[in-house]
Amino acid sequence: MSSPVMLTMRGVTRVHGHGAAQVHALGGTDLRGVDLDVAMGELVAVMGPSGSGKSTLLHLAGGLDSPTSGTVRVGRDDVGALDAKGRARLRRKHVGYVFQDLNLVPALTAMENVTLPLELDGVSARRARAAATAALAEVDMDDLADRFPDDMSGGQAQRVAIARALVGPRRLLLADEPTGALDSVTGEAVMRVLRARVDAGAAGLLVTHDARHAAWADRIVFLRDGLVIDETGTATDADTLLDGAVTA
Ligand SMILES: Nc1ncnc2c1ncn2[C@@H]1O[C@H](COP(=O)(O)OP(=O)(O)OP(=O)(O)O)[C@@H](O)[C@H]1O
Ligand SMILES: [Mg+2]
Repeated sequence: MSSPVMLTMRGVTRVHGHGAAQVHALGGTDLRGVDLDVAMGELVAVMGPSGSGKSTLLHLAGGLDSPTSGTVRVGRDDVGALDAKGRARLRRKHVGYVFQDLNLVPALTAMENVTLPLELDGVSARRARAAATAALAEVDMDDLADRFPDDMSGGQAQRVAIARALVGPRRLLLADEPTGALDSVTGEAVMRVLRARVDAGAAGLLVTHDARHAAWADRIVFLRDGLVIDETGTATDADTLLDGAVTA
């Protein structure tokens, strides 16, 4: 029997700005009807050229952005039907997010950055600290727990951002180029941590340009022309592809 689906995207479109010409001038593509499922225990890698909509896809999956049309579900929650408070709660409790630009809070130490989502959710300071210490240790950053983001290397900051995404019981892990600033040994170590979390039951969606890291995934999907193309290179939905071609 296959595992329950944690993330469901159906016919998801996202149009940026006011007019396709503007977007095309920037060399990027809007999402034009993405269908994607990620099951518990499954790690899916997303690959595609710059501007193909990979970060947009992750923002939508994590409830940070709303689709222009289509549905996004995390577990049983229809993300589009939640109000801002509901979406914030979903993100804090269930979604671990490694942002492409990290988004660490500069005024907080590594430890404080990692405990923040737990404390916002009402976890006691002592328990939050214990969980954050464990998460920092997973990425080998427990020795630098008191350091501020501005005093870290890019790779160290990236590892803190990963610890923040892993802390607590996350059901959905979204990682946008989480290994970009890491040397290959640390990158592999981070992939091992992500893989272990997914094997323990989380669903994972990983954006990467690195084929060696994509090889840790159960499945690789490609974003092309605003659609998800599966590993065999066929559109997941030929009708959507045709619709997209007509409206382009
Ligand atoms: N906030 C925004 N406002 C307007 N356009 C946007 C916005 N965010 C993304 N876009 C546009 O949407 C398209 C997809 O961008 P996105 O950042 O999702 O690509 P990406 O695949 O993550 O690229 P990269 O590999 O460079 O990170 C691009 O054309 C981009 O210019
Ligand atoms: Mg991106």
